[in-house]
Amino acid sequence: MTKAEIDLSAFAAELRAQCAAEIDARTEGHFNGRPWLREAFLTVPREHFVPDQIWWPTPRDDGLHHVIDRRERPRAWLKGVYRPRASLITQVADGAVRPEDGPTDAPFTSAVSCSAVVVDMLHYLDPAPADVAVEIGTGSGYSTALLAQRVPPENVVTVEIDTELAARARESLAGLGLRPTVIAGDGELGYPSRAPYTRIISTAAVREIPQAWLDQAAPGAVVVTPLFGPFGHDALLRLIADGQGGGEGRLVNGVAFMKVRGQRAERSFEKLGWPTVNGPWPPYGDYRVTVRDGRQKIQVIKPIVRRP
Ligand SMILES: C[S@@+](CC[C@H](N)C(=O)[O-])C[C@H]1O[C@@H](n2cnc3c(N)ncnc32)[C@H](O)[C@@H]1O
Repeated sequence: MTKAEIDLSAFAAELRAQCAAEIDARTEGHFNGRPWLREAFLTVPREHFVPDQIWWPTPRDDGLHHVIDRRERPRAWLKGVYRPRASLITQVADGAVRPEDGPTDAPFTSAVSCSAVVVDMLHYLDPAPADVAVEIGTGSGYSTALLAQRVPPENVVTVEIDTELAARARESLAGLGLRPTVIAGDGELGYPSRAPYTRIISTAAVREIPQAWLDQAAPGAVVVTPLFGPFGHDALLRLIADGQGGGEGRLVNGVAFMKVRGQRAERSFEKLGWPTVNGPWPPYGDYRVTVRDGRQKIQVIKPIVRRP
């Protein structure tokens, strides 16, 4: 390594530690009660999974998202990589627009998710070394790498719909000596050959929980996924599968994810099982989500008390 490369590697380690310290400030979820997760976060070099050119998630004044290029501004790029609340946009318009095309307002279709959100989702997934896990939405492979610090990589399957991204993630993971099963395919179908799973995590949002996930879940399996709701964004859902194609869960908090490709089109919330609420939506903790006989239902479980 050159002196400049050594300096950048030390800078990355410093930023990673700072990012972990910022996540430490969260009093719920995240690293709380999950020492393995903090250790994993400090072990996995997030920058290893980030392409040289990324679009910054916050638009400029002209509404376009600018490109940060590692080769031109390595320190700014690294600082972006370790911003705990920043997702790094790695693909727009399903790859039809490339970073070389410059600033864009094309829709985001893949990202390295925010560090803090990836950590929080893994907190609620709560995997253990004996689990068999499937992840939907491999993206860069970063969240897969964190998961594979806890569940042996041979027990981890990750499914990415974009063939180019799947190949790149497989290579990045192998570069760190991690060889989970990386499948280029439609994650809404799960991956039946390795079922039943005891942990299922999706890093792409759904409007309706795919039946295949619950059909491939062992009794008591934990399913964590962003579920798009009438609040205008996603809520993180943690559901326990019954092993018979159903399950019951709770919403944990608000998140914002790209949707699985097959569920981009809008659908009626009523038909997706959401209740009608007159007035503001109750807090996330006040909902019960059930799936029975192929139907998803979301109920408000606490009475709505409104002041006169
Ligand atoms: C937010 S990104 C994933 C971030 C990833 N966990 C990471 O840390 O880099 C969501 C990913 O889901 C993928 N995706 C969308 N629909 C999918 C589907 N039906 N099956 C599998 N992957 C899908 C997208 O191509 C995108 O790469």
